[in-house]
Parts: sequence; C-alpha cells; structure tokens
Amino acid sequence: GGPVTVKELAGKMGREVSDIIKKLMTLGTMATINQEVDLDTAVILAGEYDITVEELPPEEDPTEIAEIEDDPASLVLRPPVVTVMGHVDHGKTSLLDAIRQTNVTAHEAGGITQHIGAYQVLCQGKKIVFLDTPGHEAFTSMRARGAQVTDIAILVVAADDGVMPQTVEAINHAKSAKVPIIVAINKMDRPGANPDRVKQQLAEQGLVPEDWGGDTIMVPVSAHQKTGLSDLLEMILLVAEMQEVKANPNRLAYGTIIEAELDKGRGPVATVLVQKGTLRIGDSIIAGTTYGKVRAMINDRGDKVKKAEPSTPVEVLGLNDVPMAGDVLAAVDEKIARSVAEKRVAKKRSEEMKESQKVSLDDLFKQI
Ligand code: GTP
Ligand code: MG
Repeated sequence: GGPVTVKELAGKMGREVSDIIKKLMTLGTMATINQEVDLDTAVILAGEYDITVEELPPEEDPTEIAEIEDDPASLVLRPPVVTVMGHVDHGKTSLLDAIRQTNVTAHEAGGITQHIGAYQVLCQGKKIVFLDTPGHEAFTSMRARGAQVTDIAILVVAADDGVMPQTVEAINHAKSAKVPIIVAINKMDRPGANPDRVKQQLAEQGLVPEDWGGDTIMVPVSAHQKTGLSDLLEMILLVAEMQEVKANPNRLAYGTIIEAELDKGRGPVATVLVQKGTLRIGDSIIAGTTYGKVRAMINDRGDKVKKAEPSTPVEVLGLNDVPMAGDVLAAVDEKIARSVAEKRVAKKRSEEMKESQKVSLDDLFKQI
C-alpha cells in the first residue's frame, strides 16, 4: 500500500504513538500523529523494533514499461512532427496559417499565441504534424516541451528584424533536444527584409547556411504573399525522409500531454500527441497523477475520431483530473490505471509534505 500515518503505524506495530514519534526523532524525523510516513522510513522503523517487513515486489510502472523500445521489426514509418519556433511576432502562426490555408492568427487575443497548437497537414500525399509554439518570452517551458516531442524544428526569423532573444532560446531548445533545425526566413515581402543579415546573425549562433558552405537549410518565405512555402515543405519532407521516423502502431498507446485544461462542459480536456501505439475509445489511461478512460477523441479539425495512431494530435476526454503539460500519457491495463494514479498522488503528497516540513524547520531555526 501507500504511505501510512504515524498513528496507523503504531497500531500495526503494537506500539504507543509517542514511542513511534520518539523513535522517529532519533532517526532525525520530526513527526506528528497524523503525519504520513513513507515506506522506506517505515521499514527502518520496523527494523528498530526487530520487526521484519516482507519485501513487496517492486510495482511495475506502466509509464516505464511504455518507454521500453519496441522491437525494430514492429516499427513502421509515421508522419514527422515539426515544431515551429521563434521570436514573438516573427510570423510562426501566420506561416502555419498560410501552409494550412486557415486563419488562426485572426482569432488570437492580441495576436499573440499563448498555447501550443497542433495540426496535421497533407503535403504531396504525406502527412506532417505541425506544432505551433508561442514566441513570447513568458512561454519558455512550452517551447522546451515543443522541442522535446518534435523530429524537426522550424526556426522562423523575420527578415526585417533578424535574430532576437527568443530566436536564440529556440535554437538552444532544439540543440539540447538534438533536433535538426530548418530556418524559415519570413516576411521577405517587407521593405526592410535583409536575408543576408539574418544569415550572418544565424552563422554567429552556429547555424551556417548551406549556400555559405554550412549545413543548415534556410528557406526565404513570405507568409503574407505565400511565397517559398512549397520549398519549405519540400525541405521538411526531405529531412524527415532522412530521419526515417518510425513507431509501432500495434501496441498500447504512449504519448505526451501537449496542453490540458478544465472545460466547463466537458471536464478535463487534454491535448495529446500520440507517439507510439494506437489510442482508442474506451482505453484505460494514466497521465501523471490522473487517470480515466478515453470517452471521446477530437482531431485537429474538430471531428470525433475513434482511434489515434502515432504522430496524431488529439483532444482526449475522460480523465478524472487535469494532467500537467509534459506528462506522459500511457494506455494501461484497466485494473491498474486507478491504483497507479492514486499511488502517484500519494507519493506527490508525501513529497510536498516533506518539502513543507523542511520549510518549517528552516523557519524554526530562523526564529532562534
Ligand atoms: P507569437 O505567436 O505571438 O510569437 O507570434 P507569431 O510568430 O505567431 O507571429 P504572427 O503569425 O502572429 O504574426 C505577427 C505579425 O506579423 C502579424 O501582424 C502578421 O500579420 C505579420 N506577418 C506574419 N508573416 C508576415 C509576412 O510574411 N509578411 C508580412 N509583411 N507580415 C507578416
Ligand atoms: Mg503565434
């Protein structure tokens, strides 16, 4: 089972609560009667009283199991995941709008992206998954997350503005995630456009353009005039082909929570990028400390779908609570979904408790 309180432990060990508390103090832990004691401490305590504790087999963590590499023979090509990154207002969303022939930019508050948008695009008969990320400096963690789940990063740099702080930040996220970068030099239609200056600045960041003898693909584009888009898409497909991105679709699903929120009518809604396996309606799932059963799935076009294969972004309904962006989502055996999630909640709580105790101990010393 999970953590037990001092009181429960005293009962199980047939000792007085005060006795247990004293013993814990000698072990360096200040505890109160209703405090939870973690398993390790309980085992040590039992040892102090010469009580032998039966070793339970370590619980198999379904997320860790899901992370195990699939048999290479089971892998099939999947669509590449491409994350669009760059400084605020350099035209990431506009570029995706131009590629998708949509108009997301028009509906954004203040024209600023504040979440990760996920879209599937069909290009020369091949699917590409695009993730749009915010460029505003406040959204570093979203950019980092975007870089971690992606196969290719598109770095958008405005030709009239050049390399800016979040351009550099995006380069670093892509580098630390070991993801190849394709540069889109956008706003080529602007009077002040100076692609050579952009190339010079990027070269200073270690991205040397191919036409200068380096190995970074740089494509001049204009989201407004829709120029250079097919070149850019061609480069994306080329790099994707070289990478041979693959996954096993015939297994329990594994994916990452891109974002999640509590919807008034629908309850917890999580946008998931399925990375391995196939997620289906009715699957038991866990994501971080949350669990549930897939009740409905909605694709990027707003259509209900029954299954989501690798490299598919979908909204998932049916979790008992709102998971955290970045959490791993795993489809699991129905019997363990709830207990694993509850154990994670308990573990998180006891960790938070430990943290708060550290603080109060510090405060205590401060007062002395
Ligand atoms: P954040 O998501 O907030 O980081 O911004 P973004 O990079 O998505 O930029 P967005 O697409 O919202 O565009 C910012 C502004 O630049 C808007 O006013 C666009 O109309 C304009 N813009 C984008 N692409 C082009 C382009 O190719 N040419 C010109 N002239 N303007 C552009
Ligand atoms: Mg945007």
